[in-house]
Amino acid sequence: MQQPKLKSKVQCADREVGEVTKVILDPITREISDIVVGSGGGGPERQVPMAQVQAVTDGVVQLRITSSELAQRPPLKRDDFVTIHEVEIAHLEDNLHVEPGEVLVPLPELERNVRRRTFFTNFTHAIGALVALPLAFPVLKYLMKPMYAPFDNQWIKVGSASKIKTEDVGVQFKFKKKFKEAFMPEAEIDKNIWILKASPAVLEQVYKGKDQVFHDAAGREIWTNKQSVPYIAYSGKCPHLGCGYKWRAHKVLGQVFLCPCHLSIYDASGKVLDGPAPRPLDTLPIRVAGNGDIEVIDMEFKAGKKEQVRII
Ligand code: FES
Repeated sequence: MQQPKLKSKVQCADREVGEVTKVILDPITREISDIVVGSGGGGPERQVPMAQVQAVTDGVVQLRITSSELAQRPPLKRDDFVTIHEVEIAHLEDNLHVEPGEVLVPLPELERNVRRRTFFTNFTHAIGALVALPLAFPVLKYLMKPMYAPFDNQWIKVGSASKIKTEDVGVQFKFKKKFKEAFMPEAEIDKNIWILKASPAVLEQVYKGKDQVFHDAAGREIWTNKQSVPYIAYSGKCPHLGCGYKWRAHKVLGQVFLCPCHLSIYDASGKVLDGPAPRPLDTLPIRVAGNGDIEVIDMEFKAGKKEQVRII
């Protein structure tokens, strides 16, 4: 079946009722899950699942339901959605052929869906792992040995503070990180972090009057981020499940860090404003040299945990 297009006429089983004013997207399957039908004249818009769409032809969407059944459907709760201008969904254009416009992504039900899907995915993986374990165990034991190596607390130069022009605006810094497995030649991976030149108000939200001390694997202090230094670095991984996130304009919340995977939203201080993230964004040790060069210690923490557990 063709995809419903915005502004297509909507035909119920008995009569024409209006047009498609928005489409709603399932951000995981990246398919249209619902259309929104507007009757014009200021009446409420109604959300209709794709299961109720019988056919789509050029310019017309035919519904299975009658106009009175449509009128009984609850009005669209616009606040339960964000537009795709506010989130970023990878490869969306491969799946979605509607014209850009009011394409919505649901906010609140999402977490439940994700949990269910994640459960089945994990379940399948767990069965596979159990079957393969006797064969793989000796190899795994060998491969996992480097994981017990001490944390890498090297300072890495990521760029210049001159790149940051405005206070309280997230700026992405990309860099290469070298790593070495015991049995392989040295390799490089692409990494990114977000750095903010924070206003005193944001610094207070981050530090709450207490400087932040970082420790090595043995519990020894390695660095202290001080509230008097206005630069804050956040790990590039979302604490929910480790996706990359972006600095985005949100219609209601203003400028935020927004993770496209399950729509966790954080303010400039890293505080969770919405979504399934279990903890604020992870701050990293940061120091700024006199010439403006920024260096960080690139730490990683376990995703999905309320508390911060360092893994790299
Ligand atoms: S990984 Fe799930 S919200 Fe970011």
